[in-house]
Amino acid sequence: MKVLIGSTHEEVAELAANSVLEGLERYVSNRPPVIGLATGSSPLGLYGKLAELVKAGRLDFSQATGFALDEYVGLPQSHEQSYRQTLIRDFCQVTGLPEANLNVPLGDAESLEVLEAAASQYDEAIRAVGGVDVQILGIGSNGHIGFNEPGTSLRSRTHMTRLTARTRADNARFFGSLDEVPTHSVTQGLGTVLDAKRLVLVATGQAKADAIAAAIEGPLAAACPASVLQLHQDVTLVIDEEAAMHLKHREYYDAAAQVLSL
Ligand code: GLP
Repeated sequence: MKVLIGSTHEEVAELAANSVLEGLERYVSNRPPVIGLATGSSPLGLYGKLAELVKAGRLDFSQATGFALDEYVGLPQSHEQSYRQTLIRDFCQVTGLPEANLNVPLGDAESLEVLEAAASQYDEAIRAVGGVDVQILGIGSNGHIGFNEPGTSLRSRTHMTRLTARTRADNARFFGSLDEVPTHSVTQGLGTVLDAKRLVLVATGQAKADAIAAAIEGPLAAACPASVLQLHQDVTLVIDEEAAMHLKHREYYDAAAQVLSL
């Protein structure tokens, strides 16, 4: 695992964008990229930096395919807080990824059977394009990634899940009231996330400090779903000083981040 600590949100966004760019350069050649997208406030600065790289001609998402991590169950796709609309606003419109190439798990199906069938087809759709090259992630204050709440199988595939009270409360700021926050979602599973070639997780603020410490230095355990990242061979966590405040091996991460010249 690489742990990069930025002193400002600007630096966090910059370090994360470099990691995404380098990942796409490493894993993609002679074909359009496949990018995994997260919602939430954490990746917004990163998306802004990626938009700058597009403007500078260093990245091109015009033929790219995007796969969202998750979607609420029960919100119409046109709802402004659906993750489809959120990613259209926060990613497609700033980077030029065509809306038609944005895949989002189906959350507004007419029945449970249709929803579950679509969830398992989501994993197949990812496989069919050769997998996600770089998956961008945030982290919930309880250690969830996507909407894989504590207790989720570490090898889970895309599935429907119930949201914890804490997650619903954390996300209530996007809705008129807590009652309006959906109770369920469809999320890529932890096994699905691990299949991406590179993972780049962004987290800032004190509210994420416990989750970050548990993810990086805690035991590999379903109690902290993000601890599953410890099993990935190419994962970078980009965090700020506040999110880093409970890390015990800070000195090592700082030293390891120095570029070695031979
Ligand atoms: C939601 C999303 C996650 C995201 C998390 C943190 O629960 N499903 O993918 O990582 O929120 O969001 P924020 O970055 O706004 O703190």
